[in-house]
Amino acid sequence: MSSDIIKENDLIFLVLDEKRRWLVQAKSGNNFHTHKGIIEFDDIIGKNYGSVVFSKPLETQGYKFYILKPLPSDYILHMTRKTQIIYPEDAGLILLYTGIGPGSIVIEAGCGSGALTCILGNYIRPNGHVYSYDVREKSIKRAKKNVSRANLDNFVSIQSGDIINDEFPISDVDAIVLDMATPWNAIEKAVSYLKLSGTLVSFSPTIEQVKKTVSKMKEYKMVEINTYELIKRKIQVKENATRPEVRMIGHTGYLTFGRKINNIKNPYRERKPKEQLYVNLNGMPLRG
Ligand SMILES: C[S@@+](CC[C@H](N)C(=O)[O-])C[C@H]1O[C@@H](n2cnc3c(N)ncnc32)[C@H](O)[C@@H]1O
Repeated sequence: MSSDIIKENDLIFLVLDEKRRWLVQAKSGNNFHTHKGIIEFDDIIGKNYGSVVFSKPLETQGYKFYILKPLPSDYILHMTRKTQIIYPEDAGLILLYTGIGPGSIVIEAGCGSGALTCILGNYIRPNGHVYSYDVREKSIKRAKKNVSRANLDNFVSIQSGDIINDEFPISDVDAIVLDMATPWNAIEKAVSYLKLSGTLVSFSPTIEQVKKTVSKMKEYKMVEINTYELIKRKIQVKENATRPEVRMIGHTGYLTFGRKINNIKNPYRERKPKEQLYVNLNGMPLRG
């Protein structure tokens, strides 16, 4: 079990209220400035997660902040990002429907800001590994920073690589996670890296991307191909006003899953070609 005492360089989730909350690294001798006062990390290091701290100067500010251990969802929503990130609900389904867990070997493309990379890195511990690739140097730099801040360097390698055109020196991986603009172009390579029974998941914001990706997954004989969309509603719980919140994120993206098998034709139940039901004579559909 990981320690519940906050140590130097640990990431902490500092919470003032529903809207004001930050993911920060505890560094002795340093502090964190908020418009509700200053948080001294020396007041935090050595304390238990789940403690509180008061902002300084105590006489003029003195606001109470909760110090929580960051959850995987906090990594996603509060880390430095520039690219579109995967939302916690989608990340949850990715983990459950790919089977990624302790010991899994995973390829991810692209890493973007590294939000999903951190989630994956967190779950494959202590003996798995995430090989994450991106074509943009800026994304690689940002993702590496986020992975280091989450203390996941031993479980994640972020490298420059194009999953469509490059050859990665890995095979027999348990799962491939795609979050990129043209996933259908990566299916052939992705399937070649997967072990038999391994899972592939592709996250795409549009149906057009999903259709092309599913078509390629079928071409490469994947099975158990399913696409889902998750819609999460937060419920406001208030005296005489308990109901769904008025504002919500209406769409994140579609998740398409599939599995690799050694797919050969069934010699016992070979389908006869379908009888032509209709013939088309000068544009007129007629029964054959
Ligand atoms: C939407 S972002 C990924 C966000 C990421 N899942 C996260 O949670 O932060 C898409 C990334 O895919 C990368 N990308 C696009 N084509 C790629 C390719 N062929 N190989 C590797 N990465 C690629 C882009 O550079 C971009 O950083």
